[in-house]
Amino acid sequence: MTLGIALLGTGVIADRSFAPAVQAAAGAQLVAVLSRDKSRGADFAQRHDIPEVYDDLAALLRSPRVDAVIVATPDATHEPQVIAAVQAGKHVLCEKPMTTTVAGCQRMAEVVRASGMTFAMGYTWRFNQGAQKIKAMIDAGAIGQVRYARGLLSTRAQDPAGWRAHSAEARYWALSGVGTHLIDLWRWYFGEPASVGGGMISPVHHSVNDEIATLVLLYPDRLLAELTVTAVFEGGNRVELYGDTGDLIGEGLSGARPDGRITHNGQPVPFQPVNPFLEEVTDFVEAVQQQRPPRATLEDGLRNVAIMEAAREGRMQITL
Ligand SMILES: NC(=O)c1ccc[n+]([C@@H]2O[C@H](COP(=O)([O-])OP(=O)(O)OC[C@H]3O[C@@H](n4cnc5c(N)ncnc54)[C@H](OP(=O)(O)O)[C@@H]3O)[C@@H](O)[C@H]2O)c1
Repeated sequence: MTLGIALLGTGVIADRSFAPAVQAAAGAQLVAVLSRDKSRGADFAQRHDIPEVYDDLAALLRSPRVDAVIVATPDATHEPQVIAAVQAGKHVLCEKPMTTTVAGCQRMAEVVRASGMTFAMGYTWRFNQGAQKIKAMIDAGAIGQVRYARGLLSTRAQDPAGWRAHSAEARYWALSGVGTHLIDLWRWYFGEPASVGGGMISPVHHSVNDEIATLVLLYPDRLLAELTVTAVFEGGNRVELYGDTGDLIGEGLSGARPDGRITHNGQPVPFQPVNPFLEEVTDFVEAVQQQRPPRATLEDGLRNVAIMEAAREGRMQITL
């Protein structure tokens, strides 16, 4: 069965990453797009060869061609769109972060679980060959027990007039743009942190959301993993892991077309980069077809936002 997929949103990630990925994925067909503006939607549909265009979500969800949706809209919009989609019997691939608050994630989780529809989170690093290579090497003991990990990422979505900088559609800026990916990476590599510390500031545009953030994830008696993310300067794209017997350094791994380099104790580690969005869409399609969980789940979405929320509220305990 070919899965008919609709794209919600016509922004950067829908245009550059998801539309081409769905067109290239086996077993998937891009059948509809949602835009608040009909002419923008029509233009998007023409460029990507999409047969149906909507400016009303309910109408899109009534289309018999639509089996699943990819939610690629601002963070706060994920909640109503995901809830409406699963209630209409559609599977969902939801962009990160799941939404802006833990309470919102829990409302989504309740409806998704009751619906029985497949729900995947868009944590693209899980499909990044560099990140997978590092995980395989950690798991094989290449650097012994990891004691310290840190990541530095900056986002190119730096427009202070954009939705990320404001409270109506977002609660995090740098953390939503890239920090949530590193939280997911450390959770994937090391499991659940016991607590989180850190700080966030907004010194350039004085946004209500974080422009620079550092989070410190504590795994007592095992390791400390931190991440620093920014929305106000370019160039950060590095992860470093230090263990009892060596180190692994990844540079330039992040992005839609990752290339990057990995070194292990100073020696280059070969790996073959792939398009992580194509891998992510393929995993989603197969998860629906095989009725199995996707690689990044509802639980991953929920726990990730719980870590961001604890950090934002300045409490170390992560509560769900
Ligand atoms: N996985 C990744 O690596 C990655 C990378 C980038 C972004 N993302 C995530 O993908 C989502 C979209 O990000 P993006 O970079 O594509 O953002 P964007 O370029 O601003 O696009 C968002 C789109 O959502 C639609 N939209 C609906 N309600 C909106 C509102 N109230 N304000 C603004 N736009 C609204 C708009 O399409 P219409 O104007 O046509 O309605 C807009 O083009 C976010 O959740 C983000 O965190 C993930």
